[in-house]
Amino acid sequence: MNSKEQLEQKDLFLPFETGPLKFKNRIIMAPLTRSRADEDGNPTPMMKEYYSQRAGAGMIISEATNISKEAVGYMKTPGIWSEEQILGWKIITDEVHQKGGTIFCQLWHCGRISHSDLQPDGDAPVSASEIGADADVFTSDGMKKSSTPRALKTEEIPRLISDYVHAATCAKKAGFDGVEVHSANGYLLHQFISDSSNKREDQYGGSIENRCRLTLEVIKAVTKVWGEERVAVRFGPVSPFNGVETSEPQKTYEYMLDTLNELSLAYVHVIEGKTGGDRDYGDFDYKKFRDHYKGTYMANNNYDLDLALKKRENNTADLICFGRPFIANPDLVERYKKGADLNEIDSDTLYQGGKKGYTDYPFLGE
Ligand code: PHB
Repeated sequence: MNSKEQLEQKDLFLPFETGPLKFKNRIIMAPLTRSRADEDGNPTPMMKEYYSQRAGAGMIISEATNISKEAVGYMKTPGIWSEEQILGWKIITDEVHQKGGTIFCQLWHCGRISHSDLQPDGDAPVSASEIGADADVFTSDGMKKSSTPRALKTEEIPRLISDYVHAATCAKKAGFDGVEVHSANGYLLHQFISDSSNKREDQYGGSIENRCRLTLEVIKAVTKVWGEERVAVRFGPVSPFNGVETSEPQKTYEYMLDTLNELSLAYVHVIEGKTGGDRDYGDFDYKKFRDHYKGTYMANNNYDLDLALKKRENNTADLICFGRPFIANPDLVERYKKGADLNEIDSDTLYQGGKKGYTDYPFLGE
């Protein structure tokens, strides 16, 4: 066990720079769906308190945030496409900055992980192909099975990319420090990458190059708004979350990195193994993958302090992303630094709304 003095000196707790960005430390708060926005996807006042309490993170990645009405897959998740949403987020980013924190906006399109009840005019949700996911989604009538999607037409892709650009522009107006393009966990961009959900015959389907095309086009389009150094991406190469499966994941995602190596992104964020579960799930060489990437590499999935310290000791990641520990411990960095005990998470209050289990987890000494 490390003594307090030894712990404090670990570079996990020291500032980290990527491009123009300065993170307080290498302990990153993961994007976490908490369903506390209102029915129109506007951030609510309690979200300001929640994010502000967690500003001690090296940087915060916002909960997944819908880029458009079509992108919505779950009720009460926030959006970043309207003036009202911009104003709501601005209050939050100002507060995080006031506390010396950094906050990125995670740009989300759920694709087929949605229900027609949540879609504009009750239409079918969109995806790469007309293949349903058998996922559970939260609607105003409770949990329902996701609807069978319709395949986006080739000629609709420029409109989809412009929705990402619009959301990225809104995120800038809302005072975020950058954006993370969500291309993991079986949501729209991942549905294009995965050959189990993408059976297209146009330039967005078939080969690895074609299936990676949409994610890469979105990233490049968004860098026009933000500059490369304030844009990041999230991948989950082998995670079966939301029913996707990709053959040849190593080859597929290394192809992705070959292109990203030509850009100077803020970071690449990788969910190792199965989302929220087994890090060793699937056949994937993360060390090789990390070595393949020239930029800043963020590792995620079920990390605890010991594993994070090991990851830094052998330099197999630059940044470590923590999810559930940040839900229950607003002062997670301080607790880790002091080797203090952690609060237990209350699973019943993750998505139920209200302040309980959201802003009332105690700080050390409270
Ligand atoms: C969720 O809302 O359940 C969710 C959102 C984004 C993720 C994973 C899960 O990446």
